[in-house]
Amino acid sequence: MCSPLLGNLLALGLLLSAHVAGAAKCQTSNFPQEPGTAKNQTICVGKTERSYVLFLPANYKSSPTPRSLILSYHARSRTATSQLKLDLLTTPFFNNDNIIVYPQGIENMWQGAPGVKTNDILFTTTLLKHLSTTHTSTAHRIDSTKIYATGKSQGGGFVGQLACHPTTSSLIAAFAAVSGAFYTTTPADDCDADTVSISCKASRLIPFLEFHGGKDDTISYEGGERRNACLPSIPHYLRSWAERDDFTPQNVTSRLSRDVQVHTFGNGMVTGYYDRTLGHDWPSTKKNSDNGREGHGVASFNASSIIMEFFGRYTLGSDSGGSRKVREEL
Ligand SMILES: *[C@@H]1O[C@H](CO)[C@@H](O)[C@H](O)[C@H]1NC(C)=O
Ligand SMILES: *[C@@H]1O[C@H](CO)[C@@H](O)[C@H](O)[C@H]1NC(C)=O
Ligand SMILES: *[C@@H]1O[C@H](CO)[C@@H](O)[C@H](O)[C@H]1NC(C)=O
Repeated sequence: MCSPLLGNLLALGLLLSAHVAGAAKCQTSNFPQEPGTAKNQTICVGKTERSYVLFLPANYKSSPTPRSLILSYHARSRTATSQLKLDLLTTPFFNNDNIIVYPQGIENMWQGAPGVKTNDILFTTTLLKHLSTTHTSTAHRIDSTKIYATGKSQGGGFVGQLACHPTTSSLIAAFAAVSGAFYTTTPADDCDADTVSISCKASRLIPFLEFHGGKDDTISYEGGERRNACLPSIPHYLRSWAERDDFTPQNVTSRLSRDVQVHTFGNGMVTGYYDRTLGHDWPSTKKNSDNGREGHGVASFNASSIIMEFFGRYTLGSDSGGSRKVREEL
């Protein structure tokens, strides 16, 4: 028999030990790693330990150029390590100079998706601060004007959250999402995917790139209800970026190949790639964990090449990166 008092004492004991264990567990790691390798690292965000995979380029120690840092967010139910294998930004074909950071979502999910309560904006700002204060020597300094964010699906949706947040939109120079799940706060019952309001508090004009497949049956190009929330159609989502960036909402449509249309707004600062035949996949001409699935197929292009080229065009504080609005307000 367990008396209520004993029960309470036991519960208190458990609570205290859990608390102590939690506190002891939270650690900001700085595990040494060789250039050219990727490693799991941890960081305390308040009292919560978060993890990420850090990739240092092979020339990390030898080349004195300040380098860019790219954040890449995994899809829901995927991981930091699976995202590394998917975007291949750690391979010399796509990247030789940049530090790549793969944040890990709690329960593999990201803020902004229905029901998610974690503060991944704080995770991101804490991480950026930590990395720019630890990678400071001239040989491997991070160029704070060249920080970028990409991600897939729910991770792509979180890239949209970063672009719309007053703080992170002023820290990250350009944004690229693949099969983005840009959840709005409008309930599913009131969902009109072509007009749904998109709340956005970007603090500057934002370069935004998106890739989407016409055969994406997870996050439909047409938007609509999902997980009891409302997703905008991708054209509506991109047009609203164009409008915030002071471009007309009409795009110039060109073709990359028979199946792939490129929709550019203004000078291309907002661009959408629409691949008629693509599924919910990271576009790649080689097989990957997305397009290798049954009923999926390789694309005619590599999204990672286009993302790297897009990021290369934008630097925080430069005119192309969008200081226009800030200037006009002065
Ligand atoms: C990170 O840790 C996870 C879980 O232990 C492991 O599966 C994964 O391979 C590690 N990733 C890297 C890049 O070492
Ligand atoms: C681009 O313009 C074409 C033609 O008006 C339209 O069909 C398409 O939906 C537009 N795409 C986006 C992303 O706005
Ligand atoms: C896509 O990337 C792979 C490396 O992952 C490369 O072998 C292939 O040539 C690239 N395709 C194109 C069209 O650039």
